[in-house]
Amino acid sequence: MTVSLDQLRRCHIAVDLGAARTRVYVKGVGLVVDEPSVAAVNTRTGSLIAVGALAEQMTGRTPAYIRVARPVSGGTVVDIDMAQRMLRHLLGEKLRRQLRRKPRLRAAACTPHEADPLAQRATVETLVGLGARRVELVDTMIAAAVGCGLPVEQPTATMIMVCGAATTQIAVLSLGSIVTAVRIPIGGEAIDEAVIQHLRQHHELMLPSQSVRPLQLALRGNGLTLNGPAVTEIHGRDVATGLARSVQVDTAAVRQAIHAPLTAVLDGLGKVLRDCPPDLVADIAESGIVMVGGSALLPGLDQMLRDATGVPVAIAERPDVCSVLGLGAMLDGTVQPLALAPLAG
Ligand SMILES: Nc1ncnc2c1ncn2[C@@H]1O[C@H](COP(=O)(O)OP(=O)(O)OP(=O)(O)O)[C@@H](O)[C@H]1O
Ligand SMILES: [Mg+2]
Repeated sequence: MTVSLDQLRRCHIAVDLGAARTRVYVKGVGLVVDEPSVAAVNTRTGSLIAVGALAEQMTGRTPAYIRVARPVSGGTVVDIDMAQRMLRHLLGEKLRRQLRRKPRLRAAACTPHEADPLAQRATVETLVGLGARRVELVDTMIAAAVGCGLPVEQPTATMIMVCGAATTQIAVLSLGSIVTAVRIPIGGEAIDEAVIQHLRQHHELMLPSQSVRPLQLALRGNGLTLNGPAVTEIHGRDVATGLARSVQVDTAAVRQAIHAPLTAVLDGLGKVLRDCPPDLVADIAESGIVMVGGSALLPGLDQMLRDATGVPVAIAERPDVCSVLGLGAMLDGTVQPLALAPLAG
């Protein structure tokens, strides 16, 4: 992806269409949308009933004629039409009117590392449908590194880990580009799923998706890596009887269940470090790894990475919105141009 800062500076909006959340940054204004990537549709009439947080609340609580759709899956737009309708509603009438006034609307969008051409095409089509004449795609990891203030343009290595809902992306960056990277199809959703499966198998309990978070918070007490005797109470539905039931859950066992998906993430991290030239590994041993993305907030994940790699690990200040803020900074022109201009003489 060879989009220049100059081209990005001509864009008017920056969009990050994530599997869990959609974020939009308007040049000169800031972050205007940060909502779940969800739309609720009336299947009888085909009309949209709700988008964003309201639509997400409806998940699992709808009558038969309402369908809750997630137009972005696995980091890719899978339903272009629905994604356009969702974005249109999230932007709101006032903002849409402002954008319509631009004769040649240009948009920038984050794209997962090494997204295949079809996935890239789907993102571009979605934004073209919203009126963009031109769409620039920027690797999520570069946008995120800029967004959390890493010195990406310096000839020293920085390591970033983007922990999304559907994917985890890890890269070593130097001189403004990616040196080595991996994209693992495991993120916050897989971790939530592991918790749900554990409760189903060991406690015969069906857990509503919204109850996973309190359980994760209970894990925070002793961290993901330590074994504590803590027990926490969880409400759900009995698998056999279908009735409401509460169980006492051993948090150490839940921690164990979460370990399986996290092993894949640790393997990916090891691979990036192994593929990285020794000079850059020496830099990383000093500067460490910066975690961004919503799942970076998973209690104890940072400590687990510290234990596994032995290098410093930090969570970015606003991890969930780093990517779109980085892309926004490139639009606003508040990013230093990459120090790669040819030397005179
Ligand atoms: N406080 C928290 N603790 C644990 N997990 C969290 C927390 N906040 C958000 N998450 C998880 O972070 C994920 C959302 O992260 P993010 O917004 O970066 O995803 P996304 O950009 O939509 O996904 P992707 O980049 O994979 O397409 C969800 O899976 C959510 O469960
Ligand atoms: Mg993301």
